[in-house]
Amino acid sequence: MSNVLVTGGAGFIGANFVHYWLQQYPGDRVVVLDALTYAGNLASLAPASRNPAYRFVKGDICDTSLVAALLHEESIDTVVHFAAESHVDRSISGPGAFIQTNMVGTYSLLEAARAHWLKGGKTIEHRFHHVSTDEVYGSLGADDPAFDEQTAYAPNSPYSASKAGSDHLVRAYHHTYGVQVTTSNCSNNYGPYQFPEKLIPLMVVNALSGRSLPVYGDGSNIRDWLFVEDHVRAIDLVIKEGKVGETYNIGGNEEHANLDIVNRLCACIDEVFDADGSLAERFPDAPASSGTATASLITMVKDRPGHDWRYAIDASRIQNELGFEPAHDFASGLRSTVDWMLANEDWWRAILDDSYRSWIEDQYETR
Ligand code: NAD
Ligand code: TYD
Repeated sequence: MSNVLVTGGAGFIGANFVHYWLQQYPGDRVVVLDALTYAGNLASLAPASRNPAYRFVKGDICDTSLVAALLHEESIDTVVHFAAESHVDRSISGPGAFIQTNMVGTYSLLEAARAHWLKGGKTIEHRFHHVSTDEVYGSLGADDPAFDEQTAYAPNSPYSASKAGSDHLVRAYHHTYGVQVTTSNCSNNYGPYQFPEKLIPLMVVNALSGRSLPVYGDGSNIRDWLFVEDHVRAIDLVIKEGKVGETYNIGGNEEHANLDIVNRLCACIDEVFDADGSLAERFPDAPASSGTATASLITMVKDRPGHDWRYAIDASRIQNELGFEPAHDFASGLRSTVDWMLANEDWWRAILDDSYRSWIEDQYETR
C-alpha cells in the first residue's frame, strides 16, 4: 500500500493518472495537490470524487510549508510530479509563470520531500517521480537519430528550458542528498481531458464550431504522439520497476507532420458525421453537418517563433528494461479522442468561457 501525492492532478495527464491509479491500486491513498490554474479542472477529476481513497487539495507547489504539511499528514511515500505550466505558446508570451512553477515549484517540492523523507540521517522508503518532456532535447533534422537518454539537453523555448531546469534539479537532489528519484521524458500526448489549446483538442473544438483550423508555418513540423493512457501506464512501470536515479524516455513510435494530423482528424470527423445524423443537429456550424469537408477550415498561419521542427523518441530503454509497449496506435487513439470529445461536450463547452475565448482570439490576432 502506498500514499501517493499527485501534483497537477487536475490537469490533462495528471487526471488520467489519478483515474488509472485508483483503479489499478484500490488499496492506495491518492492525494491531489493542484493550484487550479486556467489548465486545472475539477470536472476532470469528477469520476474520482466519491472514492474515499481520494482527496483534493487546492494549493501551489511553490508553497513549501503546505507541501511539507501534506507529506507529513498523509504519510506520503510517493510523489508523482505533473504540475507545470505546459503550453509552449504561453511560454513565449509570458515566460515568468513557467520559471516560477516549473523550476521554483519543483525546487519547493524537492525541499519539502528532502526534509520529510531524509530527516536526521534516517531515510523513510520513498519515491519522487518527475514527469518531463522530450522537448528538453531540442529539435531534430530529418535524418537525425531519435532522442535517447544520453542525448544532450538543448531546450529552445522558455517552456522546454524551464522543464530542463527542473530535470536538472531532480537529478541534483538525488546525487547530492540521496532523494530517491526517477524521471520520465515523454513525447506529445493526446486523449481525454486535454485542454483545448493543444493541437488535437483545439482542432476538434474548432471543427465542431466551424472555426478555422490554424496550422503553424508550412505544417511540416513533426512530433511523436502517444495516447495518454499509454503514458500513465509507462509512468506506473517506471515508479514500480525503474531504477532509482535514472531517466526513461517514453514515446509512441508515431511520428507525424502537423498538417497530416490535422487532415487525418478532419477525415475522422467527416466519417463520424456521415455515420451519425444526430451530430448535424448538435453541431450545426460544423462544415461536416452540411456535407462540406472539414478540411476546408484548414488555414496556414504565421509560424510559432523558434518552432522546433522535429521531435522523435528512442524508447528502446523502457521497452527492453521494463517491457513497455504502447497499446494504442495513432489511428485508434485519434478516433477514441474524437469519440470522447463528442461524448463529453459539457466538459469542453464549460472551458470555452469568455477568458479562454479572448485568449484564443488574441492568439489569432497576433498571427
Ligand atoms: P496541463 O497544463 O494540462 O496541467 C497542469 C496542471 O498543473 C493543471 O492542473 C494546473 O492547475 C496545475 N498547476 C500549474 N501550476 C501549478 C502550481 N504552481 N501548483 C500546483 N498546481 C499547478 O499539463 P499536462 O499536459 O497534463 O502535463 C503534465 C506534465 O506532463 C507537465 O509537467 C508536462 O511538462 C509533462 N508533459 C506533457 C506532455 C503533453 O503532451 N501534454 C508531454 C510530455 C510531458
Ligand atoms: P502543441 O499541442 O502546442 O504541443 P508542443 O508545441 O508542445 O509540441 O503543438 C503541437 C504541434 O502543433 C506544434 O508543432 C505546434 C503545432 N500547432 C499548430 O500548428 N497549430 C495550433 O493551433 C497549435 C496549438 C499547435
